[in-house]
Amino acid sequence: MNRRRWIAVPAGLFATAALAGCAYPKAAEPPERFTEAEVESLKPRFPDSTEVSFSAGRKLFVNKCGSCHDYSDVMVIDDSRWPGIMKSMGKDAKLTEEQSGKVLQWILAVRAARRDAPVSK
Ligand code: HEC
Repeated sequence: MNRRRWIAVPAGLFATAALAGCAYPKAAEPPERFTEAEVESLKPRFPDSTEVSFSAGRKLFVNKCGSCHDYSDVMVIDDSRWPGIMKSMGKDAKLTEEQSGKVLQWILAVRAARRDAPVSK
């Protein structure tokens, strides 16, 4: 008769489960740049922003916001939470207040422009 053997569960499995338990908000690829038409339609809501400042905000997000954790999906966090998040994350990413403001405006504009668009790719 064969003896039954216990199969050892790899320790890695536990580590993976632990990480999944405290995952950041859903991750996503950084949204694409705005089209000209989108910039135009955003003007009334973001009078102080321009194509240039939106591009700068996006560039900062792409370069500075994906090093410690995945890029967060900007669509799943409410507008009201972003100013507070950018306050702490801007510091984490060593942004100046001006840079941080550009990232915030860009995120809010992405949400405004794509609110009704499908989030998943
Ligand atoms: C130096 C590392 C670091 C950088 C750079 C960084 N983050 Fe974070 N981020 C963290 C840590 C750590 C947490 C979790 C703890 C916390 O909320 O402070 C976090 C949490 C978050 C969350 C979840 C917050 C919540 O309350 O749900 C969001 C969204 C986020 N970061 C976005 C960003 C954005 C946008 C940038 C770029 C401006 C950025 N992060 C840059 C370290 C970083």
